[in-house]
Amino acid sequence: MAIQWFPGHMHLTRQAIADRIKETDVVIELLDARLPGSSANPLLAELTGSRPKLKILNKQDLADPVQTQAWLAHYNAMPATRAIGLDASETAPAQRLIDACRALAPLRGGMAKPLRVLICGIPNVGKSTLINTLTGKKATKTGDEAGITKVEQRIVLASDFYLFDTPGMLWPRIIVEKSGYNLAASGAVGRNAFSEEEVALDLLGYLKGHYPAGLVERYKLDAAATELDDEDLLAEIGRKRGALQSGGRINLQKAAEVVVYDLRAGNLGRVTLETPEEYAVWLAAGQLLDAERAAKKKRRKGEAPQRSGPEPT
Ligand code: G4P
Repeated sequence: MAIQWFPGHMHLTRQAIADRIKETDVVIELLDARLPGSSANPLLAELTGSRPKLKILNKQDLADPVQTQAWLAHYNAMPATRAIGLDASETAPAQRLIDACRALAPLRGGMAKPLRVLICGIPNVGKSTLINTLTGKKATKTGDEAGITKVEQRIVLASDFYLFDTPGMLWPRIIVEKSGYNLAASGAVGRNAFSEEEVALDLLGYLKGHYPAGLVERYKLDAAATELDDEDLLAEIGRKRGALQSGGRINLQKAAEVVVYDLRAGNLGRVTLETPEEYAVWLAAGQLLDAERAAKKKRRKGEAPQRSGPEPT
């Protein structure tokens, strides 16, 4: 599925992170606990290199707790990496964050060597909410608009612990097809950038295999409905929800909006859209395809006939 990203402040952000990383001891990467693999930004990994990482699986209140544990174990097994689960109901998360970061950079601390931490995350992952909780401020920005911090913020969480938030947004180049769907379903992508119907169909395909009970309960379906193919299941949900258009036909767009809304609101139960194992398979396939595309492009360039004479105007 093609996603129309809005590159916006991408260049600025890239530069800001590249500048800040030189004086960073730990990178906090905020991930969406429902899609940890897909909500990780590959560009960030490139920019931050081997710096110790704290992965925060945020919005864990919406995610399947069993899968959150699986993802935490997956990340905690990585070198120089720690992972914790979090959600906005935790009103004083600072100490947990500080402790996890200190464990990652034990040689830093004290006024002479304050711990310098950079916090990053894709849009809508809950970064503003978390920063507001940490600073005790009322919301400065939440919602769908690509959230833009205009200047770098330094938040002093302890006398020797500085948290830096860089300006702008880092949009990922998506090489895993399924990530596009999961990011769109989660709300990370503005709604004009994708087809709701396509996203809902993909989502239903996953939910009926992994979380059928949530669908049956939410839409008062017969248990057998989860055996339907994705299109028929979406139509059945539309029928149950009274999403009709003239002539009594099902309004599939409306039905799709209902499904996506219900996922985001947690109305389908606590759902995680990818397991570590599934994501690893998708990633390997995506990387292979990406490498093939790059090789093809290179070949095409090599084959392009050399122009002679003046450039056409
Ligand atoms: P961002 O800065 O990373 O872009 O994200 P932001 O904090 O603006 O949060 C995006 C949306 O996610 C907001 O909802 C916010 O309330 C919600 N959110 C943040 N943290 C959590 C969490 O831990 N659990 C849940 N369930 N939701 C969370 P919104 O509908 O866009 O705005 P509003 O509800 O605040 O009006």
